[in-house]
Amino acid sequence: MKDIIDVELKTRTVDFDKCETDLLATGHFSDAKGLDKVSAELNKKLDGAIERLIKLGDFKGKDGTSAIVYGNANIGAKRVLLVGLGERKKATLDTIRKAAAHAANRAVSMKAETISLALHRAFGGRFELAKMGQACAEGTYFGSYRYDEFVTENEDGRLGRLGVEVIDSDSAKTRKLNRGIISGVIIGQAQSYARTLMNRPANVINPVKLAAAAKKLAGGCKNLSCTVFDEKQLAAKGMGGILAVGSGSQNKPRLIVLKYTPSRRVNSKVPTVGLVGKAITFDSGGISIKPAPNMDQMKLDKTGGIAVLCTLKAVAELGLPVRVLGLIPSAENLPSGTSYRPGDIITTFSGKTVEVQNTDAEGRMIMCDALHYADKENCDVIIDIATLTGACKVALGNYMAGLMGNDEKLIKQLQRAAEDSGEKVWPMPSGDEYAKEMKSKIADLKNIGNKWGGACTAAAFLRQFIGNKKWAHLDIAGVELFEKATEYSAEGSSGFGVRLLTSYLMSLVSK
Ligand code: BES
Ligand code: MN
Ligand code: ZN
Repeated sequence: MKDIIDVELKTRTVDFDKCETDLLATGHFSDAKGLDKVSAELNKKLDGAIERLIKLGDFKGKDGTSAIVYGNANIGAKRVLLVGLGERKKATLDTIRKAAAHAANRAVSMKAETISLALHRAFGGRFELAKMGQACAEGTYFGSYRYDEFVTENEDGRLGRLGVEVIDSDSAKTRKLNRGIISGVIIGQAQSYARTLMNRPANVINPVKLAAAAKKLAGGCKNLSCTVFDEKQLAAKGMGGILAVGSGSQNKPRLIVLKYTPSRRVNSKVPTVGLVGKAITFDSGGISIKPAPNMDQMKLDKTGGIAVLCTLKAVAELGLPVRVLGLIPSAENLPSGTSYRPGDIITTFSGKTVEVQNTDAEGRMIMCDALHYADKENCDVIIDIATLTGACKVALGNYMAGLMGNDEKLIKQLQRAAEDSGEKVWPMPSGDEYAKEMKSKIADLKNIGNKWGGACTAAAFLRQFIGNKKWAHLDIAGVELFEKATEYSAEGSSGFGVRLLTSYLMSLVSK
């Protein structure tokens, strides 16, 4: 198996024209009147080539576009890549992240070995330089990522390594950028590892293998511990939900418990956070089997759980002074003679009983046990993340995750983290109207509502298991996957959740 591309990031203080590199990338706004300082400097040395390109209308600076100008003897770079930033007033940190991702994506495609990123001058002042460095680092990991560990025959091949530097002519600036780059590298690496685990198919990863990967990851991280409950321990604890969903597969279910205890003193105002992630390693629907088209995509039904795992990796490596508990219920949802059935009544870990009306609504069946576990532990805040409902994908498409919860402040904090991380969320309801629909006549709850508002009724179901804790729910069905490659990403897993959750945890301890 091939390793994923090895990205090496650093900063360098160098004049833009003197920077020796395979690819020098710099931004251009679509509504720019002229060239900014970086492009102007290069343009002069290139005898006006950048200006001519723009005058011809071959490059308009729209986001998601770019153009190459080849270097000459007057500059160090072999190629200059102009990256479109879109409209100046719409620019956010995510504009920088996506531009860096776009440049890294192109660099990998053209097999450039080194790439140098020169930040557009107009960003200066609008965002902290450290945050800009972080976004650049996250973006280069994101855009250079390819999932090809099982590809043995490839005519084009791919380089094993990409050297990236963020450059500036001012050493005070590179120093500030570097501070953020250190965090960005940790987060970018965590997200790339998440994407690899997520992209691995169900014959390669099952609950037992995922648990082994979690143990290995925790073993390599300071202050991170990992305990795994096997099917016997799940039975002894009475975790009927996880066991029911896992009962149809030879691959037995697991509950993975990660605990991060920082060495730094934790401020008494900082809450202990429980993160709960759905890890169905394959969702066939079970006895209520899904239609065949696109069923392969259900290998990504473990995305939420892996996002939690890799967020803990990032948090531990960042050494954040916040206590975090990670809970990952994992099962494979398959039909067989031992599967759970529609009509079954399951006693969950909380003691609440659930009438199963559809075995394809399995996410909530495993999440409810883990949520009750989080409630019993001393978490102040519980955030769960799950590819929970097709209804959420219908509602929000591929651009945003559904965000439900019971605490305004927590919702706001997650919305802010979404802006910072570029992993977008949109608020949705999950209150009493929806909860009422989940009542059963023959048990405490049933596992599906009526035809409408499926994302909301699913969240309302989960809400029954969090006691009186502050809680937020992220339904990431729809954002876990790029069905096709984009300008800034390869196709496959998006790694959604790692940046969002890490940003949230970072925001708890900043200032
Ligand atoms: N894992 C699916 C949800 C999903 C759908 C994720 C599409 C990603 C893309 C979930 O387990 C599921 O099957 N949900 C059902 C619930 C229904 C039976 C109430 C659904 O959405 O159809
Ligand atoms: Mn399902
Ligand atoms: Zn599912």
